[in-house]
Amino acid sequence: MITVNQLHPLFFGEIVGADLTAEPTEDLRQTVQDAMDRHGVCVVRQGPITDEEHIRFARLFGPLELPPGYGTRPRGRMAPELFFAGNLDLEGNIKPLTPASQNVAKGAERFHADSSFNPLPSKWSMLRGVECPPPEIGGDTLFVDLRAGYAALPQALKDRIDGKMGIHDFWMGRKYAGLEVTDEMKANMPMPPVHHPLVRVSGDGRKAVFVGGHCVGVEGMGEEEGHALVEEIYDIITQPEFIHRHHWTVGDIVIWDNRFALHAATPLDTDQYRRDMRRATINESGDEIDSYEYRRRQKESAA
Ligand code: OGA
Ligand code: MN
Repeated sequence: MITVNQLHPLFFGEIVGADLTAEPTEDLRQTVQDAMDRHGVCVVRQGPITDEEHIRFARLFGPLELPPGYGTRPRGRMAPELFFAGNLDLEGNIKPLTPASQNVAKGAERFHADSSFNPLPSKWSMLRGVECPPPEIGGDTLFVDLRAGYAALPQALKDRIDGKMGIHDFWMGRKYAGLEVTDEMKANMPMPPVHHPLVRVSGDGRKAVFVGGHCVGVEGMGEEEGHALVEEIYDIITQPEFIHRHHWTVGDIVIWDNRFALHAATPLDTDQYRRDMRRATINESGDEIDSYEYRRRQKESAA
């Protein structure tokens, strides 16, 4: 018997009683789909599973978005289909804490939607706790619901964003977050900006405001005006009463809908504890592909 509880007054489901080590059933798929439609973010409470079981579960909901450079880069102990979030190197040893590593981590400490800077049709992320530091040490993940966020906006702001497109730019977002961005970094990883509607409507008719760390401006507005507007919205929707804080237990899988929720990492300012978190990323449609290959094919078909 699978049950779903709500853990925050506004959103965040807890799915209890699923067994992802067994062949997934239609009942499981439908229960998770319904819970995600309603809450936008859910934790599946369940014991440790393998990378293969994680990937099998993710594929019930759409094609995987593969990590950049899929098939060409060494991936160490992990299934190459998964993204890594944590403090371990490819061999699984803790990376020493340095100003540079802390600086990189800062990027995920702003609320964001995964891959919103990519032209792929992003759907969900599923992050699994393989090794988690105790909550008092750090490494919790924070979530906000973008439908509750939209509902909280003053009417004048809703009117200003109605029908407008947000500009999502990976490098600009990092710059605004105060991180170092060099021409060399940009040349090694060219990421032209993409546009997404600032207001999205979910299946049940609820509107969501789609901003977040990679959203740096508004199409048709000046750079400063657009940036100020998305920052104003960001500050409203990330107020404490909208945030759910997830303390990780080994085996948890937290699923978030990147179209209707934002998430943020919290600091882990120590290298005395291991954090091994693995993420499957799911698109709405299309081939299982990484974002570089997707951009390459886009360019090719435009040429
Ligand atoms: C991610 C992410 C946050 C965390 O995996 O996309 O932002 O707490 N993770 O690890
Ligand atoms: Mn993320």
